[in-house]
Amino acid sequence: MKITDKKSSKKSINERDKIKSMIETIKSSRAQNQKIKREKKQLDKIESKTKAKKKQQSQEKKKKTQKRKPSNKKNKTQKTNNMKSSEKDKNKCPPNMSPLKTKDGLLCVGKCPHSGGPIYYNPSIDKLVCKWHGSQFKTSGKVLTPPAMENLKIKKIK
Ligand code: FES
Repeated sequence: MKITDKKSSKKSINERDKIKSMIETIKSSRAQNQKIKREKKQLDKIESKTKAKKKQQSQEKKKKTQKRKPSNKKNKTQKTNNMKSSEKDKNKCPPNMSPLKTKDGLLCVGKCPHSGGPIYYNPSIDKLVCKWHGSQFKTSGKVLTPPAMENLKIKKIK
């Protein structure tokens, strides 16, 4: 009986050691879990801060764009004013004549006397030129180069 008691006591000691080691491993794993949780919390805080910063930046951008919009409106109004002025200029010209801005001022120019081509102003040579065949005229309307043989009809507005 004594021998069996000794064996059983050794077994119980071994089991206790095993249990102790198990408990230690469990404790260490719990500590690791707690560390991981802390790290996750820190990461969450950092992420929330970065999100807040991004929101602020996007709001600032929106504010800036909202501030710019009125200037765009001004540009639009300026454009519409310019359109209105060109329309006014057109209205100043008699029918079959179109307004052209030159160095001397605003002119109403008729169609080319050669075949009725449209006339444009070339500022580099300070001449009126026909788009179709290239006849050139002075800003006064006098013919300079053929094929046009007659002078241009011109009316000075300004
Ligand atoms: S139509 Fe102008 S030159 Fe011919």
